Amino acid sequence: MKPVFVAPSILSADFANLGGALERLAGAGADWVHLDVMDGHFVPNITFGPPIIKALRPHTPLFFDAHLMISEPDRYLDAFAEAGCDSITVHAEAAPHLHRTLTYIRSLGKKAGVSFNPSTPMHTLPFVIEHVDVVLVMSVNPGFGGQKFIPAMLPKIREIRQLIDDRGLDVRISVDGGIDSRTAPLVREAGADVLVAGTAVFGNGGDWAANIAALRAAATP
Ligand code: DX5
Ligand code: ZN
Repeated sequence: MKPVFVAPSILSADFANLGGALERLAGAGADWVHLDVMDGHFVPNITFGPPIIKALRPHTPLFFDAHLMISEPDRYLDAFAEAGCDSITVHAEAAPHLHRTLTYIRSLGKKAGVSFNPSTPMHTLPFVIEHVDVVLVMSVNPGFGGQKFIPAMLPKIREIRQLIDDRGLDVRISVDGGIDSRTAPLVREAGADVLVAGTAVFGNGGDWAANIAALRAAATP
């Protein structure tokens, strides 16, 4: 298993000072920055897009992990790549030509990711797994931070881990939603190696470094 990565989601950070937040995250021990892009159509919330990501890019050297909760993501892949994203994750539910979408993301020199909502089976994954760098398992219904972890996602994580291991591939499993010190060990044991966390890092007004360290420790038996 790869070492655990912690990817704070800035959805739970202070939107009035995202640049300042990014300047602190590397020093707080974050591995990735999880960017929750929402269009108000694929999910019932609207956040930010390429111009904001471009403005944030100079504020940290950290890996930009873009989570596109948008319809028709193919229309925007170039813009997110040019804005400075390091990985671009699309939702399987919003990408009818998923094989083409993933190979196109890689052709842009970016890591390619696919995400599945809680009720979406991952039966398309075996057909595209060779073109995937990260599988993002939603453990809440996308659109908002601070929701309750859905335990039924644990067998899904195990099944994805089994597929990756059976194929001998180098693919990370990221889990997103309701990840905290209680759920982090559960998803790690199931096979995840990236923990996306918004509320658990930014939500209690506490010390981000301590919150990130606590997540990492909880997932490291
Ligand atoms: C939800 C987002 C998640 C969310 C996680 O649609 O994709 O990344 O920000 O927030 P918490 O960690 O608070 O559940
Ligand atoms: Zn997310």
